[in-house]
Amino acid sequence: MSSLFSRPRRRTATTSVTAAPARGDVSTTPPPSTGQQSQHPAARPRVAPRPPARGWAGRGGGGAGYVQAAPMWRSTTVQACGLWPWSAGTGSPMVGVPIGRNIDTNAPVCADPISWFQRANLISNPSAFVLGKPGLGKSTMVRRWCAGLTGYGTLPLVLGDLKPDYVDLIRALGGQVIELGRGRGYLNVLDPGEARATAARLTGTAAARVTADAHGRRHQMVASLISIARKAPPTDREESILDRALRVLDERTTAIGGPGRVPVLADLLQVIREAPEDVRAVALDRGDIDRYRDITEHLEATLIGLTGTGRLGEMFSKPTTTPMRRDAPVVFDVSSIDEADVDLSAAALLACWSYGFGAVNNANVLADAGLEPRRHYFVVLDELWRALRASRGLVERVDALTRLNRQRGVGLAMITHTMSDLDALPDADDRMKARGFVERAGMLVAAGLPEAEMTKLSGVVHLSRTEQAKLVSWTDPPAWDPVAQTESAPPGQGNFLVKVGGRTGIPVHVDLTAAELALNDTNKLWHEVSRSGRPQDAISDLIDEEGVRAVVEEGVTDAPANIAASDATPVDAAAAHDAPSGDDLTSTAISSTGPALGLDRGGA
Ligand SMILES: Nc1ncnc2c1ncn2[C@@H]1O[C@H](COP(=O)(O)OP(=O)(O)OP(=O)(O)O)[C@@H](O)[C@H]1O
Ligand SMILES: [Mg+2]
Repeated sequence: MSSLFSRPRRRTATTSVTAAPARGDVSTTPPPSTGQQSQHPAARPRVAPRPPARGWAGRGGGGAGYVQAAPMWRSTTVQACGLWPWSAGTGSPMVGVPIGRNIDTNAPVCADPISWFQRANLISNPSAFVLGKPGLGKSTMVRRWCAGLTGYGTLPLVLGDLKPDYVDLIRALGGQVIELGRGRGYLNVLDPGEARATAARLTGTAAARVTADAHGRRHQMVASLISIARKAPPTDREESILDRALRVLDERTTAIGGPGRVPVLADLLQVIREAPEDVRAVALDRGDIDRYRDITEHLEATLIGLTGTGRLGEMFSKPTTTPMRRDAPVVFDVSSIDEADVDLSAAALLACWSYGFGAVNNANVLADAGLEPRRHYFVVLDELWRALRASRGLVERVDALTRLNRQRGVGLAMITHTMSDLDALPDADDRMKARGFVERAGMLVAAGLPEAEMTKLSGVVHLSRTEQAKLVSWTDPPAWDPVAQTESAPPGQGNFLVKVGGRTGIPVHVDLTAAELALNDTNKLWHEVSRSGRPQDAISDLIDEEGVRAVVEEGVTDAPANIAASDATPVDAAAAHDAPSGDDLTSTAISSTGPALGLDRGGA
């Protein structure tokens, strides 16, 4: 075998290879000593010259200045056994969703938080924190997870898609898209979802658990809405009033002969106004109805705001438009909510989380009772920075989620830009909690990050200097192609470092499949070229029959309104001389943005 790799001996007249004894024939016994005299060179045994590590230098020697990396292939052990001993195992486990190829070794990498927790036992809880500068492909990677996990039988739940990044995918997977927004879709915060139907299928403590969970969830949600509306949480007494009023309301709606419909916030307000004995007891009105009215006045005012058409009204106070399914991938599309409407975004996200986790709870209880198959969900919290920034209550919610996701049977993916997003929270408590999200996450997946992030990230997870350099290099700006007049994709797009605990990170590049590319279009609004802003009137006589575009653009430049000689500078004029003319539309368009071309022509 070794003869295959032994280097060829140099065959030149001067080496006298033939005269030299074969290596094995060289005697290792030293010649007899001749006392103080040094040995004559001719008396020394001849050893065949050996080439250096890269072969003989010089012409005809066959030396290699550059040693190429050996090509690598991946194959099954059945096929690769013939290549023994030149096969090597992959550095990363082959369990989970195939996300791409290892950037260093080209080996396929499979990884997702659920498979690495459940099957490979590599991480302590099924969650991942994805960090990286905007536009480097974080949502795309998580979409790959969603698609792959659906293939394994896990159901993706996108509880609040703010962009929307997941709607097309969930639709393509045959899932449910629930649109929420002003005038688009409503989510009744008092809707117990499937809880009542679930409780009816159960008995004893299991049924009681479901009812109690639904009650707690709805109470929490109303309290959260009040907190967002007032920018302060409700008082203890108001919390008790809400709790008791909700119970009274539930008794009424489920009572035989009752309305038999799902209550809405207006019904809760009505109960508080009616002042039933139970509610008065917790309001501590001491038998004085006027005192009761004083105590509940503030609460009543907030609820009126929430049931009207105000800031947070309408969306949460009308019957739910589309009830959520628990046996399909689901996305709540909240992208119609204006980014500037921070309060409404926060309230919508909270409502989605509360409603979504209610459904997960029902599914778990039914599976525990053996009434339905066990379902695992993969919850995606994308644009986490927007959610956390929106309201204080949301940090606590995510905190609770990250601690309990294992018990609840849900995998979790949290996505944000940088650690600075978490450090930017105004409250010190919130900042600490938010850091905990990264610390507790089973796996950290980092895309390109700026240098300044390295200290912050290294404080949470160990990153070697090579890993840090890699992450920083992935933020390099994309190249500008002067011929195509386009910017190439950023060099770090689709590159990720998968870190688990103190282990060395796995650098991986996500290659998109044709099916994904079709669903990955985040530039839908830019496919058509806007023409409505063209100064048609000024140029209409210059458009020829075919409407040659170059003529149109020149027309724009030559239109008297566009020629302002006094604005021209020598620099502009020089640029105009350099500017190509004729039918190079792009160049003409660029030069036409300044008045120089007009000046130049005018002077000619
Ligand atoms: N692996 C990839 N190969 C090719 N294109 C990709 C890849 N990943 C992402 N892209 C493209 O890059 C663009 C941005 O991707 P994506 O929306 O996933 O980024 P992001 O990191 O989530 O950005 P943001 O932080 O703004 O949400 C999209 O147009 C997407 O198609
Ligand atoms: Mg994104």
